[in-house]
Parts: sequence; C-alpha cells; structure tokens
Amino acid sequence: MTIELRGINKKYENKVVLDNITLTLREKFSTILGESGCGKTTLLKILAGLVTPDNGEIMLNKNKLFSKSEKVNLRPNQRNLAMVFQDFALWPHMTVFDNVAYSLKGNKEEKAAKVMDALRMVQLEEFAQRRPSELSGGQQQRVSLARALAPRPKVILFDEALSALDAVLREKMQTDIVQLISQTDSQAVFVTHDQHEAMSMSDQIIVMEKGRVSQIGTPKEIYEEPANHYVANFIGKINLLEKDVLIRPEFVHASKGDSKHLHRIFRVLRSQFTGNCYIIHGEVDGNPWLFYSETPFVPGEQCDVYFEEQQLIKIGGY
Ligand SMILES: Nc1ncnc2c1ncn2[C@@H]1O[C@H](COP(=O)(O)OP(=O)(O)O)[C@@H](O)[C@H]1O
Ligand SMILES: [Mg+2]
Repeated sequence: MTIELRGINKKYENKVVLDNITLTLREKFSTILGESGCGKTTLLKILAGLVTPDNGEIMLNKNKLFSKSEKVNLRPNQRNLAMVFQDFALWPHMTVFDNVAYSLKGNKEEKAAKVMDALRMVQLEEFAQRRPSELSGGQQQRVSLARALAPRPKVILFDEALSALDAVLREKMQTDIVQLISQTDSQAVFVTHDQHEAMSMSDQIIVMEKGRVSQIGTPKEIYEEPANHYVANFIGKINLLEKDVLIRPEFVHASKGDSKHLHRIFRVLRSQFTGNCYIIHGEVDGNPWLFYSETPFVPGEQCDVYFEEQQLIKIGGY
C-alpha cells in the first residue's frame, strides 16, 4: 500500500502550520515524530479527511482522496481509514460491543462477527457488555483499537494513542500494537512526540519540525545519520565536538581501549545515578558533554575521555 501526500499546505489565520509536505508512506509501520505544536495532528486529520488542506493532493494507492486542483475531497467515511485517539473517544453511554460496532456496515450477524473478531484480537471478548467507565485506561484504549481494527481499514492512524497510559502499560501496548498490525492487512501511521516510542515501533520515521519534514528514514538511519542538528538532538543525546561534528555519549569512555584514538579533556560537573549506570555530566571545550559510567566521578575532577573517529556523526556529511 502507498499513501502519497504532495504539496500539502495548511494555514490557520495566516499562521503556516504545514509547509509544503510531500511524503510517501509505504512501510507497514510509519511514525511521524515531532515536538508538540509542529503540526502532527493537523497532518493526520488531513489524511483522515477531518481537516481540509489549502493545497495539494493525497493518494491512497491509485485512489485520489484529495486534490485541490481537481476538486476531489472524499469524506472521512469514504477513505478506508480508521483513527485511534489519545483520549480514546469512546461513547460513554454505549457498551464496548456497541462502541466497536458503531461504524460497521453489514447485517446484524456480520457486524457481530466483526466486533467479536476485533475484541478477540485485543483480548477483550469477555468485556463486550461493559461500559467504558467500567474499564481501566489500558482496556479503554484497547477498545478504541478494536474499533479501528473492526472494519479492516487499509490504514490505521494513531494520534499520540499511548500518551495517556502509564509507562509500564505504555511499553506493553507499544509491542502489542506492532504485533497486532503485523497480523492484519492494515498499514499504520503513528504520531508521537516520544522518540523512544518512535524508535522502538517503526519501520520508517518521519521527523517533523515546525510544519516541515526534517528527515525520513529507518530508526537506525535517523539515529546514525541525522540530517541536521535538530534531528540529532531530538533523537537521543549528543556531544558537540566542533561545528557539525558530534558524538553520541555511548561511544565516549573514560578508559583508553585499544582502538580509541581521539581524546578530549572532560571536566566533571555532576554524576547522575540511573539504576543501571551513572550519567556523567560535564564539559569539553566549553560544550556540555555526557557519557555513561559504572562508577561515579567527583564534581570538579578532570579526566581524559576517548572515542573513535568512525563513531563521529558529521552533519551534512553523508
Ligand atoms: N483549529 C485550529 N485553529 C487554529 N490553530 C490551530 C488549529 N489546529 C491546530 N492549530 C495550530 O497549529 C499548530 C499545529 O498544531 P497540531 O497539528 O495540533 O500540532 P501537534 O499535533 O504536532 O502538537 C499549533 O500551533 C496549533 O496551535
Ligand atoms: Mg497533536
């Protein structure tokens, strides 16, 4: 399946929210990653048909969902997409069963089979007759997931769908969602501001900054070859060596191994205990640096830190 956005623009009261977005989403699981306010929800709503862009075209395979020039604008229910929201968006007065059945087509038996199928996928078939208020947050989110899965849409859009869940449940749901999607014929477009979530779930990440696409790539490409300083900073921690040359903290060590040729003098400011290691915060040539260590360092202490040439990230150097 291919979702194509071409030249999508959106302004609200003269404020540019999306600036000429051109994107092709082909992977099973794509994630749009960016800070709050960068336009992620607006982009997802434009895909879903809930917001109309000022310009551009949207294609799903060979179907035109939107074209400004050709005056095409399919309604949300004609687009073969489903959406999962952060706040679940369930009807409080309806049972789980009726919430999932709500937008399904077909006769009563067909609908019931689709509902129970979807509830089975999210392991909630015993909860069909409950109301949302009688479920935990995680269960409510699984109901909204079942509601999205039930019509077997071509694409499922997730808008910060796990942000309301606590950390442990959230990690479990990240794994569950990727697995569920892999069992369906649907493609996922997932929106988040959380880089760890994006990294751990996605085949492809689209990094957005202020209404524009900064970089598209696999999690590994984006981490190892960030297109600019914004992406490098946003996806993990960095130490600045010189203009446009960076090193990730995991490649910096206080001991000189066999192959570590480069070194700098590191002035320790603080050792932060995290459970499995210490993060040593400090300074190199006036830039804030950090690295990981099994033992703490004393504030004020100076030490040599070592790293390898081949681990350097050169912005714009690829
Ligand atoms: N209906 C609207 N009217 C006016 N401004 C809006 C509207 N929706 C979103 N915006 C603005 O567009 C920008 C992007 O919003 P949004 O797409 O919600 O970002 P994100 O989901 O990345 O946090 C924000 O500055 C927001 O205030
Ligand atoms: Mg949003």
